[in-house]
Amino acid sequence: MSLIVTAASGNLGRLVVESLLARGTAPADIVATARKPESLNALADRGVRVARLDYNEPATVSAVVEPGDILLLVSGSEVGKRAEQHTAVIAAAKDAGVARIVYTSAPRATTSALVLAPEHKATEETLVASGVPFTILRNGWYTENYVGQVEKGRATGAIEASVGDGRVASASRKDYADAAAVVLREAGHEGSVYELSGDAAWTFDDLAAAISDIVGREVAYTRLTPDEHAALLASRGLDDGTVGFVVALDGNIRDGLLGETSGDLSRLIGRPTTPLAEGLAAA
Ligand SMILES: NC(=O)c1ccc[n+]([C@@H]2O[C@H](COP(=O)([O-])OP(=O)(O)OC[C@H]3O[C@@H](n4cnc5c(N)ncnc54)[C@H](OP(=O)(O)O)[C@@H]3O)[C@@H](O)[C@H]2O)c1
Repeated sequence: MSLIVTAASGNLGRLVVESLLARGTAPADIVATARKPESLNALADRGVRVARLDYNEPATVSAVVEPGDILLLVSGSEVGKRAEQHTAVIAAAKDAGVARIVYTSAPRATTSALVLAPEHKATEETLVASGVPFTILRNGWYTENYVGQVEKGRATGAIEASVGDGRVASASRKDYADAAAVVLREAGHEGSVYELSGDAAWTFDDLAAAISDIVGREVAYTRLTPDEHAALLASRGLDDGTVGFVVALDGNIRDGLLGETSGDLSRLIGRPTTPLAEGLAAA
């Protein structure tokens, strides 16, 4: 039985492989996959098996999955194509006899108004309907998403957003990767849906304060209305689709959709999640 990690070339997948190794999984029991397996040569040198797996090519899934394997399906990065891609992966893995699929989803994916939820909802529903044993990891926001704000704060002393007083319960990618490694390695997570997020939900005033400490200058959060935010982004040359997406996401934060602190993540990994300031500084 092997543990197969998709998107191991990405930030999260790479950390999942590292976490499996750190927890004592034998390198030969891990199959790290990517669209370009040569990007995984450093893992291959350490004895991890590597293979090509592209969500657009179900045959690459059939070629990798052996009966009894456990597959981590990391959600893809091509927004708009993901439900179709994930559906193809689930079907091919099922046909190949996969024992369980672990999927990285989004907070409250089946009921949330989050702009990113629909593809995750579709994938979760496909996975449940497939009859394949599953574990769903509804990953909240990565702290690393705010590295750009650190640079903005450093350069200008201000971060702008239209999140109002909305809170974000972010955690570091490493925290989410550790949770994935735990549920891949352990039995007992079949049929479970985990709402993963940081232990603390912070406001953008907290974010500005954390950035101030990192960059060594006063940084303030400028509260924008959605219209002001859209106009600012458009003035910086962003296309209409991107402007709409960013402003909608800020609205989701304003509405509290990324602020839930369920405690599932720290419970799974057996330690507190990485605090905002620490995660930002590390990133
Ligand atoms: N929770 C959050 O805050 C948050 C933020 C951003 C993204 N996400 C989601 O979480 C996922 C993992 O995050 P990350 O930080 O690791 O993202 P990332 O560093 O951008 O990596 C994305 C990974 O997806 C792989 N991928 C894309 N299309 C693929 C395909 N057709 N077949 C196989 N692999 C494919 C990429 O492979 P290549 O190396 O071949 O391109 C890459 O390994 C993202 O893909 C996205 O769905 C979550």
